[in-house]
Amino acid sequence: MATAVSQPNHQPAGVGKRGNGAAPVLDLLGLTKKFGDFTAVNDLTLTVHPGEVVGFLGPNGAGKSTTVGMVLGLIRPTSGSVSVMGTPLAGNQPLVSDHIGAIIENPAFYPYLSGRDNLIAHAKMVGGVSASRVDDLLKLVNLHERSKDKYKSYSLGMKQRLGIASTLLTDPALVILDEPTNGLDPAGQREIREIIPRLAQDGHGVLLASHMLHEVEQVSDRVAIVRRGELVTESSVDDLLMRGGHITVRVEEAEVAAAIQVIQHLEGVENVTVSGGVITVVVAPERGRDLNRALMETGIVAAEISPKRNTLESLFLELTEGATV
Ligand SMILES: Nc1ncnc2c1ncn2[C@@H]1O[C@H](COP(=O)(O)OP(=O)(O)O)[C@@H](O)[C@H]1O
Ligand SMILES: [Mg+2]
Repeated sequence: MATAVSQPNHQPAGVGKRGNGAAPVLDLLGLTKKFGDFTAVNDLTLTVHPGEVVGFLGPNGAGKSTTVGMVLGLIRPTSGSVSVMGTPLAGNQPLVSDHIGAIIENPAFYPYLSGRDNLIAHAKMVGGVSASRVDDLLKLVNLHERSKDKYKSYSLGMKQRLGIASTLLTDPALVILDEPTNGLDPAGQREIREIIPRLAQDGHGVLLASHMLHEVEQVSDRVAIVRRGELVTESSVDDLLMRGGHITVRVEEAEVAAAIQVIQHLEGVENVTVSGGVITVVVAPERGRDLNRALMETGIVAAEISPKRNTLESLFLELTEGATV
């Protein structure tokens, strides 16, 4: 699995067309769902703003689809709340159709109509959608060159992208993609990944539920990691990478004890261990200079100071206790 991080090239959160510090499109507060004695989602708090992609990442069974079901008003929360555009969803189901676009399992498309004609048929049902908007959407999902071909000739990935275009017809504030690349080959997966940042660029808030780390890390502004129904961490991809790293320090054997004394009192140092004369300091990997300076001030010259940055993959595995992903 690739661990390289490519930065999303779209605008930061809040500067999309609905940007300018607008209210969150989705607000989950203490959301909990129990199926009998089993807690599928536990006290989940999460926010999605306009113009940002929030990756909702966790192994299979973590509670992602149950959460999506509650956001869509299909599953009733045991406790906690879902707010859409600042309004509680409970008792207000039209909020979903007004503001949320979600890919349903098998969107109804006619096999013998072209992709474009199918989208026009959907647009007629929605109402008030111009033909030029249909063409813009076909372009957005990279189907413009195949838009006149029959739906039945489309690959699974193309069908999925037409489904995404269809959910955008109502110009929803929030787009929910739950495992959007399931069943697609690598090329199909890449084509979906390419269009996700464009949705945020257009001002939609995007909630991307996935068990695939590389899918989420490449396109998300923020990542919320869930395990067994609980949020284990939520932050930007960059911040996640800064976390969980460590620094190894090598000093003269006679100075090991003194060095540990100095290091363990530094701010941000979580843990210090020593093995075979090498001191391992659990601290943000970019703090090497601070460690070096503190040691120098006490007259200790380190022979080696090596930052070890965690990959997001190792962090994810650590956070999710090695669950298969
Ligand atoms: N209707 C249900 N009744 C009982 N258990 C359920 C139901 N729906 C989901 N679950 C359980 O809740 C957990 C979370 O499922 P799900 O939300 O589908 O996870 P994910 O989408 O993260 O893979 C799983 O253990 C699943 O078996
Ligand atoms: Mg799921």
